[in-house]
Amino acid sequence: MIQRHTVRLASRYTRAWSVRPTSPRPHGTFVRARRRTSAMATADRRVRVAVVGGGAAGLAAAKELRAEGHTPVVFEQGTHVGGVWVYDPRVESDDVTGTDPSRAKVHGSMYASLRTNLPREVMGYPSFPFTKVFAGDDRRFCGHGEVRAYLAAYAEHHTLTEHINTSTEVVKAEPIHGSSSEKDSAAEDSRWGPRWRVHTRRVGASPDSIQTDTFDAVVVCNGHYSEPRTPTYPGSDAWPGVQTHSHNYRTPDDTFAGKKIVVLGAMASGEDLSREIATVASEVVLAARGFDPTAEKNDFPIESYPANAKLKPGIVELIPESSGVKFEDGSVESGVDVILYATGYKYAFPFLDVESDEDENEIVSAEDNCVSPLYKHVFSPSLAPSLSFIGLPWKVVPFPQFEVQGRWIAKALSGSAELPGRDVMSKASEAFEKSLETRAVAKRHAHRMGEAQFEYNDELAHLCGSPPLGTWRAEMYRATGVRKRSEPRTYRDGPTPWSDADAREAARREASSCGFEVDPARDEVEVGVA
Ligand SMILES: Cc1cc2nc3c(=O)[nH]c(=O)nc-3n(C[C@H](O)[C@H](O)[C@H](O)COP(=O)(O)OP(=O)(O)OC[C@H]3O[C@@H](n4cnc5c(N)ncnc54)[C@H](O)[C@@H]3O)c2cc1C
Ligand SMILES: NC(=O)c1ccc[n+]([C@@H]2O[C@H](COP(=O)([O-])OP(=O)(O)OC[C@H]3O[C@@H](n4cnc5c(N)ncnc54)[C@H](OP(=O)(O)O)[C@@H]3O)[C@@H](O)[C@H]2O)c1
Repeated sequence: MIQRHTVRLASRYTRAWSVRPTSPRPHGTFVRARRRTSAMATADRRVRVAVVGGGAAGLAAAKELRAEGHTPVVFEQGTHVGGVWVYDPRVESDDVTGTDPSRAKVHGSMYASLRTNLPREVMGYPSFPFTKVFAGDDRRFCGHGEVRAYLAAYAEHHTLTEHINTSTEVVKAEPIHGSSSEKDSAAEDSRWGPRWRVHTRRVGASPDSIQTDTFDAVVVCNGHYSEPRTPTYPGSDAWPGVQTHSHNYRTPDDTFAGKKIVVLGAMASGEDLSREIATVASEVVLAARGFDPTAEKNDFPIESYPANAKLKPGIVELIPESSGVKFEDGSVESGVDVILYATGYKYAFPFLDVESDEDENEIVSAEDNCVSPLYKHVFSPSLAPSLSFIGLPWKVVPFPQFEVQGRWIAKALSGSAELPGRDVMSKASEAFEKSLETRAVAKRHAHRMGEAQFEYNDELAHLCGSPPLGTWRAEMYRATGVRKRSEPRTYRDGPTPWSDADAREAARREASSCGFEVDPARDEVEVGVA
């Protein structure tokens, strides 16, 4: 079932965009004496911003907001910062397919053996190069614990801790419509979007112990790899074997040992997990839409797998009587013990107030994994700049993009980067979605970027008046992709086309060109090749 999330739209926000504020803002400090033209930007508005989530995106948001003079208040439901990089051995044992919305939720989706699929230098934030060893794991494609330690060090390096409230869940964030008694509040709101009432709860406290606070803006950084996207098929309900989702996979334990396993989905999780499970299972069938088992060569490198693994196309039906699985090509595998759905995740914003207004306008819907309407994957056109999102794009190098998106948001909130009018942003969002249809891109791939990420990052940097990120990252990203395809089993451990020193130097040069001081002593430790 697709989740739809909508927050109320006040139609005046869409209509009154051209009205300019004329007096101090009641809740944020807004100091501006002269009339603006579209070419001029006010850079002196300072506001208080709620950041939902203290993962890699929330940390970048806090850093960029503070750099622009705002006051970020980060709410993180976990006990530590780092989001999915904080390995959580718990699974959602009462519903391992993740289909029951009332199940006890676990945010983490990392499995014990996970290593990065990007070199650490490429992954790192521009403002804090990932060129050092932080938790004793000196592999270039390091384990999750090393990334977690890097993120903790990022928070410390940028002195973000005082802005972070851990063990605090945002249960609801709602726009405040016309609450201000200021006579020009409508004009204020039309320029900056509404203020927000944010309801939080200490994790473990009673459900009615809700704290409420108000903010000038909300930046959503809640991640999108926690809510399983699990398909159902005819026969699913009565199927006798175990059906589980990669969100709830941690180790190749007894669930898999000696058993016959079907893994559905062959992106990063499907590939890594089927390979790991094949080391303990009796047989592994990796199924994905589009695979043609009769073709001489598939894109997928099944020849690099143990001999007990084979490819199949997508699933069409489950057959309870034989514990069977029927595939798109009509073939059937019987006696299957476990189906592991490595079918990805859904965007979900359960804390955003889910109502639609009398005009049925939707502020944010996440239908078919397309968060919409959005201006450049960041701003809700009708509430910008006071509602924004960091980290929606996928198939990207996330951390550097988080900083660029965070900076754009911070500058839009201060006025130093001016957004176009709401109607222009809405039209751009519509045009983008229309272009998906024209290009025959599935709606669920709306936020997939791949190569386009580099131009996108440059565009946002330009909108912020910042220099573009270095081209070295794109080159190393591409080189890693090539190596992953040619050496799928060993690409993380082999030599890279660049030396440690080159990679460090490139990351450092980028940091300095972006205006960040890099302490060479900090980078003394060599990143090793296992
Ligand atoms: C298995 C796996 C492997 C990956 N491997 C790589 C890799 O090798 N390299 C790479 O660059 N990226 C990788 N990624 C992508 C990874 O998601 C990003 O690197 C990045 O961590 C995303 O950060 P985020 O802050 O957007 O989301 P998250 O890390 O998910 O953080 C979101 C945070 O928001 C908090 N939160 C959510 N809702 C609320 C709420 N209501 N109230 C308070 N707090 C809330 C969560 O607790 C969490 O801490 C991987 C992802 C997965 C799932
Ligand atoms: N560091 C690592 O090595 C590592 C390991 C695992 C994951 N990750 C990261 O974690 C994130 C999530 O990766 P993921 O692999 O879990 O999810 P994903 O990238 O969304 O991939 C899910 C795959 O399942 C397919 N799928 C969905 N429904 C299907 C169905 N009914 N039948 C057949 N196929 C179906 C999807 O196809 P469609 O796109 O067509 O729907 C897609 O190919 C990514 O950022 C990834 O890089 C990294």
